[in-house]
Amino acid sequence: MEKRGRFIVLEGIDGSGTTTQAENLKAHLESQGKKVHLTRQPSTGVIGKTIREFLAKKEGQAVNWEMLALLFAADRLHHWEAEIEPHLRAGDFVISDRYVLSSLVYQGEDCPEEWVAQINQYAPQPDLTFWVNISAEAAFKRVKDRGGVEEVYDDLAKQQSLEKRYARLASSQNAIEVNGDRSISEVTQALCEAMQKHLGV
Ligand code: TMP
Repeated sequence: MEKRGRFIVLEGIDGSGTTTQAENLKAHLESQGKKVHLTRQPSTGVIGKTIREFLAKKEGQAVNWEMLALLFAADRLHHWEAEIEPHLRAGDFVISDRYVLSSLVYQGEDCPEEWVAQINQYAPQPDLTFWVNISAEAAFKRVKDRGGVEEVYDDLAKQQSLEKRYARLASSQNAIEVNGDRSISEVTQALCEAMQKHLGV
């Protein structure tokens, strides 16, 4: 029987580079002959698509923060059943751009933290979580330079607060901190070294 795959998560504030780093980690693992499934949360499933609708800043659109927290938790469970677990069962590596720590950090801003943890208690633990720690100012500049749809969390003061929350909450998810305030390739190298150390790949 094929060995069960490993589940790796990348976390950080908006603009911290988790999407690029997830792609680089995938390429690194593939260069060793591993099969890798790259994914993200919010997912591309029905609940994830609904979340994206609510995240986009739209004139007159009401967002209820508790509702959003419940949607993120529900999307996570659906994503697990429909996509993550089948790939792990097949022996693949799964890399997810964001997971439970994102909800604790982002939804915990507007909802009671303990309740956010509670509604996420059924999400299985990843094998490895990385937190790409970057200054909110540098990350915010990247987001603005990139352009795209404006979202409800696109605000420097909000990102500064989220940066502090990551620093406080990362250890609750056993996240390994990687300094994101350096070049993309240096961050990738640090992530690969940590992956080697913790997962032996
Ligand atoms: P993205 O920028 O990684 O595509 O994620 C979209 C936004 O959703 C980003 O601002 C972070 C936010 N988010 C949460 O607020 N809670 C969550 O649980 C997740 C997965 C993302």
